[in-house]
Formats: sequence, structure tokens, C-alpha cells
Amino acid sequence: MKEKSKKFKYFTYIRSKFDYIMKKILVTGGTGFIGSHTVVELINAGYEVVIADNLSNSKTGSLEGIEQITGVKAPFERVDLCDKVAFEALLKKHRSINAVIHFAAFKAVGESVEQPLKYYHNNLTSLINLLDLMPQYGIENIVFSSSCTVYGQPEQLPVTEQSPIQPATSPYGQTKQISETIIRDVVAASDRIKSIALRYFNPIGAHASALIGELPVGTPNNLMPFITQTAIGIREQLNVFGNDYNTPDGSCIRDYIHVVDLAKAHVTAVSRLMENRNKKPFEIFNLGTGTGVSVLELITTFEKVTGVKLNYRIVGRRAGDTEQVWADTSFANNELGWKTLSTLEETLLSAWNWEKRINNNG
Ligand code: WQD
Repeated sequence: MKEKSKKFKYFTYIRSKFDYIMKKILVTGGTGFIGSHTVVELINAGYEVVIADNLSNSKTGSLEGIEQITGVKAPFERVDLCDKVAFEALLKKHRSINAVIHFAAFKAVGESVEQPLKYYHNNLTSLINLLDLMPQYGIENIVFSSSCTVYGQPEQLPVTEQSPIQPATSPYGQTKQISETIIRDVVAASDRIKSIALRYFNPIGAHASALIGELPVGTPNNLMPFITQTAIGIREQLNVFGNDYNTPDGSCIRDYIHVVDLAKAHVTAVSRLMENRNKKPFEIFNLGTGTGVSVLELITTFEKVTGVKLNYRIVGRRAGDTEQVWADTSFANNELGWKTLSTLEETLLSAWNWEKRINNNG
């Protein structure tokens, strides 16, 4: 055998061993808010990461932030995962992927009510393409970005993973319920694929460096970026969608979780799958703080920690909103061995520091 091909053969052998040790993770939606924070934590934990995103709701600026924080320039592929040919080309290019963390999806509750087909097509087609391609490329592990919206308006609070799945209150929530069902059925039919679904509550905040954070494209749908954009003067006034709910102060209650705490849970989950420590082929965990906070409480706490007075008014309810939901986190705490570390005050301050930095205000 020619000297050159012998060397190449030896290199390929070493690379295959290295790949296994390196543990390569594909992060879809990896330039997004939660995705970018998870990429940072994966790299910090020693994983090799490939980022895929179609940039429909994020910008490549987060790639620079990730590199500045970690010192690593993770390979980025701009791809629409609904385009199966393009998706497969990515998997052909980036071989030896051991697991996928699937964030790529639209996630604005209010927008999903106005544009249901946009949500059903994007969120379900991208997942189905992924699940279909995984076995062909030897990928056995998927961590799925799910949501507390699968609980709809729970009858009992806090919600546990066994709480009944209520009819979704929005097409967004419906896509998460359907996605979990699709994954459950694919895992049951496969003898190799295993999965963990992480049901997020309300991710907010930003990395302590303020180099990555939530950067919605256009007018924010979510409460937190609307608060910080109002506080910095980009938005004139914050609308509080209803104060006539059956809650102590009349505004909706949510479980606001620091995005870095949430990101760390993904490292814990993907390690659990890759080291075969999962107890069932498909596991589900609630990721929240276990504490419910109302919209008005969030506003007053933000004003307290930042010293900024927020200009807001009460308006009518928003279609698709649930009245109140927060997590029972005992299963994730005890079984996954994960819990949130940040206080609400620290979380709000991190969101404010991020908003100030991207507007060059400090
Ligand atoms: C929170 C509260 C609004 C904007 C989010 C994510 C979704 C999922 C669940 C992860 C509601 C009120 C909002 C505003 C307001 N997370 N609000 N004025 O709807 O709970 O959904 O968490 O999967 O992806 O979107 O979050 O921030 O939109 O709303 O009064 O301008 O704030 O009515 O009560 P939501 P949100």
C-alpha cells in the first residue's frame, strides 16, 4: 500500500477514536437564545459542537459571542431543517455526530395563534426530517426542546411530569405536544434511538458576560425582552396583557428560569443519554425554578434591581395565554441531578446588562 494511503488510513483510525472521545453534538437552532447559551455550556464541558440554524429568528452575532466566551469557533451551517436534502448534506459533511439537541422551532405563543400553519409546518417538518435522518447517520440520542405549554392550563399547580396534558391553548403548544408524541412513537419503534424531552418554563436572562442573550428579530413577542427594550427606551410603553385573571394581583403567573441554568440542564441531559444512564428510552423533565411569578411582580422586581421605572399600561388579555403555570422540579432535581442556581434578581439583572451592552449603554 502506498505510503500516503497508509498514513491516511492511520489518520482516519485515530480520528474515529478521537471523535468518540470528543463527543460531537449537533445543536439545531444553535444561534438562538437558548441554543447559543447551551453551545457555550457544551463547549465548557468539553464537547465538540456543530451549530445548525436558518437564522429566521436569530443572528450570527451570537456565534461571535460564543467564540469570545469559549475561545472556540464552532462550525456553523445555515440550513433550513425543513429542507431534507440540505439537512442531509449537513449530516454528510459533519460525520460522527453522537447526539442532537433540537431547539430549532418557532416559539411565540401569540404569533402561533395568528399563523398556525407556519408553526405546524416548521416545527413538525424539521423534527420529522431529523428523526428520519438520524438512523441513517448513526445518531442515537436526541434531546428535545419541549415546553410547559404542553400542560395547557393545568388544573393542579405546580405541574409535575405526570400532570395531565391539557388541550394546548395555542398552536405553538400543540406543536410541542405532537412533537413529544412523534418522538415517543419513533423511540418505541426503534431499538437504538433514545430521547429526553425537556419541558421549559419561561427562559429569561443572559450569560454573565453579556456577550450573548435574547435578541428577538423585530418586535418582541416575549415579556422579558419587551421589558428591557422599554427600560432602555427602544419601546415607548409595555402592554401588560390583562390584570383580571384569577391570580393574587390579576396578572398571569409563570416560572421564569435563568437561561444559563436551563442550558446546563441540556449538558446534563445529553451526557445522561450518551453514557446510557437514562432509565427509560424516552424521559421527560420539567425545567423551572419551582416558583411562580406574576407579570406585575416581574415588573416591580425589575424596577427594584435596576433602579429603572418602567412605563407600562394594562390592556386586554392576549389570545392563547394560560392564566398560571409553574413547575414541580423535584424529578429533575432528584433524577437528573440538576437544579437552578440563579435568583430572580440575578436573572433580571443579567437581562438588563445584556440589553445595555447591545445598545452600547454600559
Ligand atoms: C409571559 C407573560 C403574557 C408580553 C413562553 C415562550 C414559550 C414557552 C413558554 C418555552 C404572559 C405576558 C407578554 C408582553 C405581557 N417557553 N406578556 N406583555 O407566553 O409564557 O410563552 O414560555 O418553550 O416558548 O414564548 O411567554 O413572555 O410571551 O408571556 O403582558 O408584551 O407575559 O401575557 O402572561 P409565554 P411570554
